[in-house]
Amino acid sequence: MAHLEVLDLYSCQGGATRGYKLAGFTSVTGVDKDPQPRYCGDEFHQHDAIAYVLENLDEIRRRYAFIHASPPCQFDSDCQRIMRNDHPDLIGPTREALELTGLPYVIENVGGAVPKLRDPVELCGTMFGLQTYRHRYFEAGGGFSFQAPEHPEHAARQVKMGRSPRPGEFIQAIGNFSGVGIVRDDWGVHWMNRDGIREAIPPAYTEYIGRQVISHLNQEQTA
Ligand SMILES: C[S@@+](CC[C@H](N)C(=O)[O-])C[C@H]1O[C@@H](n2cnc3c(N)ncnc32)[C@H](O)[C@@H]1O
Repeated sequence: MAHLEVLDLYSCQGGATRGYKLAGFTSVTGVDKDPQPRYCGDEFHQHDAIAYVLENLDEIRRRYAFIHASPPCQFDSDCQRIMRNDHPDLIGPTREALELTGLPYVIENVGGAVPKLRDPVELCGTMFGLQTYRHRYFEAGGGFSFQAPEHPEHAARQVKMGRSPRPGEFIQAIGNFSGVGIVRDDWGVHWMNRDGIREAIPPAYTEYIGRQVISHLNQEQTA
């Protein structure tokens, strides 16, 4: 396989990054506006994500095979809306920057952002045998598309906030959740602290997407 690099915008501690590495990408570069000393990828730039793309368009087109973007979801999540959070909506401007690169991409977000995403694909932890539902939505673009696996029925109860999970209960990794160690084991994110987990997507989601990106890129090459 050729040398395949991913650019992970809004990387945080690298939940998405880890999945692309597991899928077989050789290197992942993270970009986040905050320092991320726990970032698990190969290279990191502390920078505004959109400005990073616009300032480095030629290098990005040359170097990367695929771009992942997880613009902050606080603007769209119900709890933050109740708290009148004023995080800017970055989905539209992020898409515009991604389209300028001409590269295949996904934009990931939470349920509240679905109306802003184009034909989003829903992923759920149960599709990958995880003990969490954590629905996340992925807009694919730049010539790439993919389908979700079958969605198993939600049979497990979710643990109530502030209580440790009982056997068989699913964790909601939001707010000041209990069970960081359980989530680390379940998702395979042992380098993350609670702050990183709260923001992250389970690597299994991007491992699944990444494998399909690689077969898309292989098909493009042989076409
Ligand atoms: C939802 S988290 C991303 C989680 C990540 N995909 C993962 O799986 O671990 C969003 C991240 O965007 C970062 N962020 C917010 N605004 C940004 C901006 N304008 N430029 C770059 N990063 C930004 C935040 O610091 C936060 O780490």
